[in-house]
Amino acid sequence: MKNILIAGGTGLIGTALCGLLTKKGYSVAVLSRSKKNLEYPVFQWDPLKGDFDDKALDFADGIIFLSGENVGAKRWTNRQKQIIVESRVQSIELLIEKIKQSNKKPEFFISASATGYYGGTLTDRISLENDVPGHDFLAKTTFNWESSLLTLKSLDIRLVTLRTGVVLSPDEGALPKMMLPVKLGVGSALGSGKQYIPWIALADIVQMYLYAIENPELNSVYNAVAPNPVPNKQFMRLLAKYLDRPFFFPPVPSFLLKLLLGEMSEMVLKGNRVSSEKIQKAGFKFQYKTLEEYFKTLK
Ligand SMILES: NC(=O)c1ccc[n+]([C@@H]2O[C@H](COP(=O)([O-])OP(=O)(O)OC[C@H]3O[C@@H](n4cnc5c(N)ncnc54)[C@H](OP(=O)(O)O)[C@@H]3O)[C@@H](O)[C@H]2O)c1
Repeated sequence: MKNILIAGGTGLIGTALCGLLTKKGYSVAVLSRSKKNLEYPVFQWDPLKGDFDDKALDFADGIIFLSGENVGAKRWTNRQKQIIVESRVQSIELLIEKIKQSNKKPEFFISASATGYYGGTLTDRISLENDVPGHDFLAKTTFNWESSLLTLKSLDIRLVTLRTGVVLSPDEGALPKMMLPVKLGVGSALGSGKQYIPWIALADIVQMYLYAIENPELNSVYNAVAPNPVPNKQFMRLLAKYLDRPFFFPPVPSFLLKLLLGEMSEMVLKGNRVSSEKIQKAGFKFQYKTLEEYFKTLK
């Protein structure tokens, strides 16, 4: 069985993925900036300082890359935007530099990316993997992030990039923030409500990483989103329905969200209708294809 090194394995996706891979018999270790994780062996690094424990690459038969400053953590000041970009690009560049120097090359490198690549929009146009990137901050960030991975191809390492949508978990990430006003009985759409939410259940995104590990014919970019994205208003209405709460308040006005969140409001006021066709054609089967199926699990 393979040894898998997970950079950023302490986060939302990483924690669930460590659990799944261990259950499947893989040996898992985490590449982390801190020593805190006690459940799995930890190799330490500091991507911004260039510090790296070389033993991590002696361990790794394959690498999963999930590291990066959380894009929703803080207001997007110029400094914060720089941190969001550098925490991904510099981390990947450091890993690649170390891989080049190492005697042991990983068989595969599977990296997170984001559907933000396509740029935020209010239209219902379907986005496919070979579309050109968008022009807003998240699109440019994601483009740079994915570009920094391309050197791996010249090193003959299998590269899979999962352009991930909003990961749904009742405990962490975007969903608890969306559930809070709904639970308080004041749930409503955000802005126009037309912006598509390209969502994926946490259980499906971790299964997709496993699928990418176990299927060596996967070697390109795949959208990691459920087959049925819905506009924000429909998402919020369904959420209220499944939580047995009312849904009659008018939408939160765009100007208010812009005032509160600044440029970061783009993340919630715009969206993208992203296609899951390519990963499904590659044989991946979703556990949760519709929001109705997923929201039933919240009861
Ligand atoms: N969750 C989503 O809805 C979603 C959607 C689209 C894309 N993604 C992408 O998928 C990846 C994993 O998502 P996630 O939700 O699991 O992320 P997360 O919970 O925010 O965790 C990411 C991990 O990255 C490391 N990290 C945090 N700040 C960092 C910084 N400034 N520099 C370097 N490393 C840093 C942390 O690990 P250590 O502290 O152990 O180093 C953290 O555990 C991320 O790149 C995210 O952007 C997630």
